[in-house]
Amino acid sequence: SADDLLRVAELVRSVPDYPQPGVLFRDITPVLAHGESFATVTTELAANAGEADLVVGVEARGFLLGAAVALVAGVGTVPVRKAGKLPAVAASRSYDLEYGSATLELPAGVVEPGTRVYVVDDVLATGGTAAAACALLADAGAEVVGFGTLLELAALNGRAKLGDLRIDALLNA
Ligand code: PRP
Ligand code: HPA
Repeated sequence: SADDLLRVAELVRSVPDYPQPGVLFRDITPVLAHGESFATVTTELAANAGEADLVVGVEARGFLLGAAVALVAGVGTVPVRKAGKLPAVAASRSYDLEYGSATLELPAGVVEPGTRVYVVDDVLATGGTAAAACALLADAGAEVVGFGTLLELAALNGRAKLGDLRIDALLNA
């Protein structure tokens, strides 16, 4: 409900100058730590994952949300990880984000071509991360049906990097 989301919004913590000077970092840790709010964000995102066969969560906070969303949606989950963490890699993509650059990897052998995937992460900022995750899934022949996030930082215009992909953002800041 709107009240539940208001409570979620109150729990998002803004940390100045993390991970570098000038960045106001939105930390969702207190949302996850609050049982009712964790349930709210999970059920709201799962409702949007409707037609998906699989939920992909993006390292690191996207793992926590993605796994919970997958469980509620009744599908499996796959982690997209930062480079060097996976023992067997299907595809790799480098990208820029608000504070630097990074590489994401998709695990080998767990996403079949044609799989309908819902991608989940905690925050949509510049969109570099989400776009890289979607590109990895496209490389694997999957169909990304939507991107779900707890918080969209609209001023950073991440949507522009995601084309016409459906974006479900529970909160905006
Ligand atoms: C944060 C956040 C998203 C991404 C969003 O993760 O959790 O994944 O940045 O930024 P973007 O839209 O500008 O790409 P971060 O890369 O800091 O890594 P972490 O989750 O491993 O801490
Ligand atoms: N919080 C979490 N992830 C992010 C942020 C933020 O404020 N900005 C870019 N990625």
